[in-house]
Amino acid sequence: MSRDQDDDKRAAAWAAAEEVTEGMIVGLGTGSTAAFLIARLAERARAGLRIIAVATSLATERAATAAGITIVPFDALAAIDLAIDGVDEIDAQCRAIKGAGGAMLREKIVASAARRMIAIADGSKRVARLGVAPVPVEVLPLARGFVAAQLAMLGGEATQRLRDGLAYRTDQDNAVLDCVFPAGFEPAALSTQLSEIPGVMGHGLFVGEIDCAYIAAAGVVTRLDR
Ligand code: A5P
Repeated sequence: MSRDQDDDKRAAAWAAAEEVTEGMIVGLGTGSTAAFLIARLAERARAGLRIIAVATSLATERAATAAGITIVPFDALAAIDLAIDGVDEIDAQCRAIKGAGGAMLREKIVASAARRMIAIADGSKRVARLGVAPVPVEVLPLARGFVAAQLAMLGGEATQRLRDGLAYRTDQDNAVLDCVFPAGFEPAALSTQLSEIPGVMGHGLFVGEIDCAYIAAAGVVTRLDR
């Protein structure tokens, strides 16, 4: 990761952090861009901002807690005020692919529970059309073969995600199939089709959750609205 790219991630994260106000329940994303957000919100909390947060992954929960942000369990909440999270790809309509870090299921639940969701990214994540990155699909392990066959019927080529040569497991102990679909797929239709496959617990296509995005390139932050 170049220093410039890190600077852009930080700039995007800081712009979004400015939208966090006193008393909010904030959904904290996962990944290297969200790490800059956590650091910034911790700084603002030390300066007196009172917020509580929910985490989209165990890694984020650990990082936020270590930084001094109060994390509350999500299971008793019906809604949160604002979710802020990174993306792997984002198009001009704020549709995105997420889940390179494996957190897409919790990320989507938190995004859906949020009254507003902001994506944060450096300029390398902007695409004219989604689908350069594979779409991560979280799968109940016992359904892996069945789901892979269903994905193939949708034209997808699924590869099981590995870590250190072993089957990757999400925070929910599920498997991940990274799936490449033929160029030009329609994101909303594909999102529905993926969600309808029994055994699919979640996937990384975000087609309506993101309200706005801060994207920084060469030090300049641009705001995209859906
Ligand atoms: C986590 O599963 C992902 O959805 C991340 O939010 C996404 O991969 C962005 O990560 P970076 O900010 O590290 O690029």
